[in-house]
Amino acid sequence: MKTAVRAFVEEVAEMYLSKLERHYAPSEELEEFAGLLSSIDWSEDPVIAPPSGDVPGLRHIPTALSAAYEAGDCPVLDALRLCIGLTPWETFYSKSEWSNPFIDNFASGELVGPKGFMRNEDVSLGLFVLGPETTYSEHAHDSTEVYYVLGGEASWRLDSPDREQRYRPGELVFTSPHQRHEIRTGGLPMLAAYTWKADPSAPSYYRSEGPWRKGRRTQPLLVNR
Ligand SMILES: [Fe+2]
Repeated sequence: MKTAVRAFVEEVAEMYLSKLERHYAPSEELEEFAGLLSSIDWSEDPVIAPPSGDVPGLRHIPTALSAAYEAGDCPVLDALRLCIGLTPWETFYSKSEWSNPFIDNFASGELVGPKGFMRNEDVSLGLFVLGPETTYSEHAHDSTEVYYVLGGEASWRLDSPDREQRYRPGELVFTSPHQRHEIRTGGLPMLAAYTWKADPSAPSYYRSEGPWRKGRRTQPLLVNR
């Protein structure tokens, strides 16, 4: 089991470095993430999570995986195949006004991280799936985040609702610390990997007066954190 997760993590680190060679910016961040993933202590025992409870978004995994395979050969995806069942999937967020637009179409799970299959306090690498025609509400956080689209497609709105770009399998999306972002899918669900430098349970926030407004900095309610 640990071997499968390690193979996936190593493929992600290698992919980051390959993007670096092709001058995807910002290179320093990618290099740092690849370094953190390469420094994981694999002598530790993994933590096997109990079976996922009610995570409605998991129903989108088969379609998202099909979309991923249709997108073509991808070593990261091949390595991921054996990790889907080891991922401690959860809804992550509790139901709230902020999470209502996506929570029934969302699932995420950490393969590496403070609550992950492999415990690590320095870096988190996880997966998330977002169902079709769904908006993962605008938020920001302290850490740089790197998303890697594995299957399906989605648009990222960065900084404002007017700045939107579509991303496809094999593409990376960066968000800088405190950069607001919102993710919107179209007709297909999206499966993506995310990498953080810090505990994802701590720093996410949104503005209490609604999307893209100024309001009070508010943390989403989280499950089991
Ligand atoms: Fe984010």
